[in-house]
Amino acid sequence: MSQPRDILITSALPYANGPIHIGHLVEYIQTDIWARFQKMRGHNCWFVCADDAHGTPIMLRARQEGIAPEDLIARVAEEHQADFAAFRVGFDNYHSTHSTENQHYSALIYERNRDAGHIAKRTITQAYDPVERMFLPDRFIKGECPKCGAPDQYGDNCEACGASYSPADLKNPRSAVSGAVPEQRESDHYFFRLGDFEEMLKGWTRGGGLQKEVANKLDEWFDAGLQEWDISRDAPYFGFEIPDHPGKFFYVWLDAPIGYMASFQNLCDKTEGLDFDRFWGQDSDAELYHFIGKDIIYFHALFFPAMLHGAGFRTPSAIFAHGFLTVDGQKMSKSRGTFIKARTYLDHLNPEYLRYYFAAKLGSGVDDIDLNLEDFAARVNADLVGKVVNIASRCAGFIGKRFDGRLSASLAEPQLFADFIAAGESIAAAYERREFSRAVREIMALADRANQYIDEKAPWVIAKQEGRDAELQDICSMGINLFRVLVGYLRPILPGTAADSEAFLRIEPLTWDALAEPLLGHEIDRFKPLMTRVDPKQIEAMLEASKEDLSAAAGTPVTTSEPNLHLTRDPIAEVVDYETFAKTDLRVALIREAKRVEGADKLLQLTLDLGGETRNVFAGIRSAYDPKDLEGRLTVMVANLAPRKMRFGVSEGMVLAAGPGGKDLFILNPDSGAEPGMKVK
Ligand code: 2FM
Ligand code: ZN
Repeated sequence: MSQPRDILITSALPYANGPIHIGHLVEYIQTDIWARFQKMRGHNCWFVCADDAHGTPIMLRARQEGIAPEDLIARVAEEHQADFAAFRVGFDNYHSTHSTENQHYSALIYERNRDAGHIAKRTITQAYDPVERMFLPDRFIKGECPKCGAPDQYGDNCEACGASYSPADLKNPRSAVSGAVPEQRESDHYFFRLGDFEEMLKGWTRGGGLQKEVANKLDEWFDAGLQEWDISRDAPYFGFEIPDHPGKFFYVWLDAPIGYMASFQNLCDKTEGLDFDRFWGQDSDAELYHFIGKDIIYFHALFFPAMLHGAGFRTPSAIFAHGFLTVDGQKMSKSRGTFIKARTYLDHLNPEYLRYYFAAKLGSGVDDIDLNLEDFAARVNADLVGKVVNIASRCAGFIGKRFDGRLSASLAEPQLFADFIAAGESIAAAYERREFSRAVREIMALADRANQYIDEKAPWVIAKQEGRDAELQDICSMGINLFRVLVGYLRPILPGTAADSEAFLRIEPLTWDALAEPLLGHEIDRFKPLMTRVDPKQIEAMLEASKEDLSAAAGTPVTTSEPNLHLTRDPIAEVVDYETFAKTDLRVALIREAKRVEGADKLLQLTLDLGGETRNVFAGIRSAYDPKDLEGRLTVMVANLAPRKMRFGVSEGMVLAAGPGGKDLFILNPDSGAEPGMKVK
């Protein structure tokens, strides 16, 4: 093997205020496969992560639960780590951004950038909640859109008409925390001068390590001009106080990526001979990779490298961005039961299945991947149970019963074995490029060949014939040796099955290089089934349980003993008499067509069928819905709203949706039987 590489890999740090779900797992599993692959190849590879423990939502969540933020993040840290361990995500270290190491590096990076002149101070005017006595992030201010008057819009943009504005422009603004009318107050803020790093960032982008989608995004941002970044927040805030500015805190996104360094420092402190500077020092030639979702590229590809550079640290070798997860072609949905928590999955299904399925779908790009539940069961059953495990189960019985577990002293088909080993090069290249779906295809093609070999030799026939014992042992030994190579190739994806197989084969943990050496004259254990088939009933039960999680979590809004924040954020409006209400004509509408609107990243253009006439409506739901998932669905619209002229055309009504916005927007669905045009009253 060539010189071992020094590689440090991270996954994005999950927020410490919610459970891990299968959407998160796409990333952790993807990263873990790559890390395990690198380790199997003999490289010095380290995989670290941490909880992202700071920020306003975590502070408010703890307050809502009546506990200290420290207690909330300690509890969540335990839950997260239990989930990761069960999915065999093999972090070398899992830490927290609320740690002494992170405080140290955040302060250091800030101070070095400040001393080099990259931090600016400006006084800004910001909304302030006089009841909660806190400044309000834009997300925590709601009011009516200054352009179209749509109610309940966030402080920075209107989901209904797509307008962008500043929170000060909102009509009838209210704090989403207390419901109070916010005041405007001045406050000093600290800004990171990203523009100082434009040349350096352009050079870094052109370094060739970035996916083309990421490099294109960066070019767009360069064209738009790099803005200064507000890195400070006022008290009360759960985070680190800025060293020279009491009462001011680092914004959560300042210290989150620094959490990668903190976790690694924490690992170095526990690991003999592991040196922090070897990986993070300015001239380090170690490799540093961050696996992230495509929604947080800005932070990782602009702010983080710039801050690192400004503070005299090395920049990442590459950012590996991935897409989102859909389930059965749609956004994960709590009502459909497809918003599946890691724990709920584990209650019903083997984690190896999901690892395999994700691997079979993952490429090196940023495309979304779909978990099609029917395909999931079919694929796991056909590939893993039907092909891979089947090879061992077809051969191991004879070896155990007839030959006391001993394999033949030589290989019956050296050429076939050599072909399997030769295929390893291309499989390794696919892993290296994170083309896991390709690696899986190539491995399964080998599994087909192994099964074909066994079919042709039909050991079950030979077993019944006198005097053919040696032949029987040779065929089955050959099958077991092919199985061993397949297990080796699948090991990064299926660490649990690989460990069970290694125990059955009585071998050391497999490395890539060890695969070429077949097992000859070696004694193996009795065969125990390595994996059972997915039963569709388990999937159904998991979906049901996910729906139950939801009802347990939501409670009955009015009487629940565990209130959620919706009523505080959106207090119930003034009473109206029936006549006023009845003026609003609500209708069931069929979504005939849904498409994106060029130049409006919040909007979808809907053609709504009212069973006789159609309406063109621009709806601010693009962040939550893929147009193709809406077509053919029924929903509810305001049919007598005055038409509104917008930049993209006239909007002739409005569809109703609940939720705070972003991905959490839920359009209304009439019960089955409703027809387009029916009046809702
Ligand atoms: O988007 C998120 O979930 C963030 N908690 C990710 C942080 S990644 C890194 F910067 F810490
Ligand atoms: Zn608007």
